[in-house]
Amino acid sequence: MHLHKYEKIWLTFGIGALIVFLVVLAFGAFYLGTHPQSHGITIDPENIEAEESFKKENLGLTKVDEGKYVLNVVASAFNYDLGTDEEGKPVKHIQIPKGSTILLQAVTPDVVHGFNIAGTNANMMVEPGFISSMEVEFNKAGEYTLLCNEYCGVGHHMMFATVEVTE
Ligand code: CUA
Repeated sequence: MHLHKYEKIWLTFGIGALIVFLVVLAFGAFYLGTHPQSHGITIDPENIEAEESFKKENLGLTKVDEGKYVLNVVASAFNYDLGTDEEGKPVKHIQIPKGSTILLQAVTPDVVHGFNIAGTNANMMVEPGFISSMEVEFNKAGEYTLLCNEYCGVGHHMMFATVEVTE
């Protein structure tokens, strides 16, 4: 078989481009660890309490180590359940010292909600059937608002809580 000179050039270019594409893809997937959100961990939306982290008593902020926290949240229409305080009142404000890392874990029993701590890179979608999680470091003191950035119904704008990062 005889290949025309230009055919050869374009063939080489085409294969080269494919290799570059695959290398970039592999770099993103394996080296940078870019996975679909929360690695696709599933949960039964009708029975979220079957999961230890989302039992009523385990909701909210828990200190797990020096500067390390876990925040378990149930997002539902139209509320973020961050557990209750000593008086049994719903928690709407959490406090952490500057430099802390929080592992955010959120689920929803109803519809898609957003989970965005405005001004930080904490931003995820909370979908029924999945556990959304991400780790975020808080290095700037101040008060941040946790809000829902996915339209979820008439009470959408009422879904918020505050996160205070102290000096
Ligand atoms: Cu929940 Cu918008």
